[in-house]
Amino acid sequence: MGSNSLAQRDIASVMHPYTNLKKHLDVGPVVITHGDGVYLYGADGSALLDGAAGQWCSSLGYGKANERIAKVAHDALIDLPYSHIFRHQTHRSVIELSERLLALAPVPMSKVMLQCSGSEANDTAVKMAWYYWASRDQPQRRKMISRMGSYHGSTCASLSLTGNTDYYRGFGLPLPGFLKVSGLNHYRSGLPGESEDEFSTRLARELEDLIQAEGPDTIAAFFADPVQGNAGALPPPRGYFEKVQKILRKYEILFVADEVICGFGRVGEWWGSQRYGLEPDIITAAKGLSSAMQPISAVIVNEKVFSGIAAESDKLGSFIHGFTYAGHPVTTAVTNEVLKIYEERDIVGHVQSLEPQFLGILDSFRDHPMIGNVSGVGLLGGLEMVMDRADKTAFPKTFGLAPKIEAAARRHGVLIRVIADRLVFAPPLVITPDELAILAAGARKALDDVHATL
Ligand SMILES: Cc1ncc(COP(=O)(O)O)c(C=O)c1O
Repeated sequence: MGSNSLAQRDIASVMHPYTNLKKHLDVGPVVITHGDGVYLYGADGSALLDGAAGQWCSSLGYGKANERIAKVAHDALIDLPYSHIFRHQTHRSVIELSERLLALAPVPMSKVMLQCSGSEANDTAVKMAWYYWASRDQPQRRKMISRMGSYHGSTCASLSLTGNTDYYRGFGLPLPGFLKVSGLNHYRSGLPGESEDEFSTRLARELEDLIQAEGPDTIAAFFADPVQGNAGALPPPRGYFEKVQKILRKYEILFVADEVICGFGRVGEWWGSQRYGLEPDIITAAKGLSSAMQPISAVIVNEKVFSGIAAESDKLGSFIHGFTYAGHPVTTAVTNEVLKIYEERDIVGHVQSLEPQFLGILDSFRDHPMIGNVSGVGLLGGLEMVMDRADKTAFPKTFGLAPKIEAAARRHGVLIRVIADRLVFAPPLVITPDELAILAAGARKALDDVHATL
């Protein structure tokens, strides 16, 4: 089947997420046929080094190297192609995966509830927080606080947690009681002469002011991703989480760490929580959890939260929440195998060994006339692009920075993402030093191409 006919069939049948659907009818799709290592291959014969690991998730890369996982999926499909975990029923691989996640958790945790996507995991965490506070005779604690710039998902509650007003348009969201505080871009939002530490103090004060204005006994939980991935890979400013956690503890607000991007090695530790000293009550995880080979996410809760939810479920007769495919036996078997491979290959150690080179690459872009700032950790980094470095002038929306950079990068054989004026790197964690250098060279050529048009 030629690429043209696939493209035509796509236009005739497929509706794509986060896509201008009308424009898609004119421009058509980019057809990917297969992958190998860190490369994806297009139907037009192009080979593209995937600098975004798909959607920050294909940690083990593509192709033959994953044959062992394919065998596990094959066997699981024959042994037990489906079995639900509703109403006390269970199976071996869901138990093994839950045990494995509890053993890996960055802080002592009590139970794991599996879902099928990051959005579902965050929606579940919202409902769990409501149950928890109801069990503590504080049902009025319903409000959620999250941060501008953070993406938490696409379902109604997780989108309400998401701090991006563009995403609410047309949906009448966010839901009431989903409050926001500022994001973490010190380069953009820091005051003149303000240190990172002072910036963190100001952000923490903003959080406390909001809690006091709303009434501490109305706030259920605070959601944060350790590194703000969808704000363009922004690590927290110095001292941020220390100050924020002090406030959360003071007002007994539950802390939900959204580890959907950061978990499973991306930031050079198993968890972002380890890297930044987070002590969450609830962790949500997805993406790298299964190297995106199966749709799975996890909500991991501590004993305090679990015992509250358990008491409430007893009172109401059940924890009335769940999805048909949650804890799917094929999905959990594959995920168990992926996690075994992470350990065998010491994927976290591999990321740690690459981090100095990766941070060096990010630093090397500081000389580029379009780059105003760089930041990164592990194998997650971003370059802030500006029209004018002297006064940090941002590109106007009409310039179309993201499509221009992404298309130029493609011409130079690399896939990168541009989010909110930031060029983001999140390659598969199995990338080699040579491949990192190829990725950096492709990104630089893309920047040069676009700069030459200014
Ligand atoms: C930090 C974070 N949380 C949640 C999500 C939502 O995950 P999903 O797309 O699997 O629903 C994403 C997706 O990019 C994410 O980056």
